Amino acid sequence: MLEIKDICFKRNNKIILDHITLQLHDDKFYVITGPNGSGKSTLAKIIMGLEQPDSGTILLNGQDITRKSVDERAKMGLAFAFQQPVRFKGITVLDLLSYASNEKLDRQKACAILTKVGLCAKEYVDREVNASLSGGELKRIEIATVLARKPSVAIFDEPEAGIDLWSFQNLTNVFAKLQQENKITTLVISHQERILNIADNIILLEKGQIKKMGSKEDVLPNILRKAKCCAKGSDKDE
Ligand SMILES: Nc1ncnc2c1ncn2[C@@H]1O[C@H](COP(=O)(O)OP(=O)(O)OP(=O)(O)O)[C@@H](O)[C@H]1O
Ligand SMILES: [Mg+2]
Repeated sequence: MLEIKDICFKRNNKIILDHITLQLHDDKFYVITGPNGSGKSTLAKIIMGLEQPDSGTILLNGQDITRKSVDERAKMGLAFAFQQPVRFKGITVLDLLSYASNEKLDRQKACAILTKVGLCAKEYVDREVNASLSGGELKRIEIATVLARKPSVAIFDEPEAGIDLWSFQNLTNVFAKLQQENKITTLVISHQERILNIADNIILLEKGQIKKMGSKEDVLPNILRKAKCCAKGSDKDE
């Protein structure tokens, strides 16, 4: 279980995360949603150790990991796919997946992972992870690194970004399968109804605070109603 206890994060006098407390159980699929700038990516980075909170603690299966490095957390089973993946000049896709999986992956295994994220594996396995990759290709490779890691906690930050709608449904299935087959904790940050629809629990973050949290049945209708109201230029239901 991943426990986030009373996390606060403030930068330039702006409160970005305001006393966030969450318990993420094994074998559950969580989606964090909320407006731009509400603190979703910051929370994910704090869980992964890419940012340090000003106060609060993070426990993984009872062990305090708040001061542990990204590498240590990765070894403990946490994996994170960035909202905006980084390019690595001179590193091939095969190298990157091998690094992620912590073993020398053979081409066959690497190709099997690339196929899962909808890439024609043979075409990509020897490509460099550089600027020649399109945004959607890079995003899929980033998601593939999380699959390669075989994590116990998988965090995906807006996996829909840059992925065409036609193949996004397939990716949704990949997340669901990863979660069900490996009984892991999955945490996806998303604005996509398709992802919200497969969540066990939805967390709505607004202005650095948890506005709502609960089952999909409890939270999703409210979010969709609000989105419809906003689209009509009216937001009077809250
Ligand atoms: N290190 C930092 N220094 C200053 N401001 C920061 C820092 N990190 C995050 N912020 C600010 O905190 C707020 C939350 O950022 P964050 O990236 O977590 O939002 P988000 O919910 O992921 O938004 P989006 O939906 O656009 O991805 C933003 O206003 C951002 O500019
Ligand atoms: Mg974000």
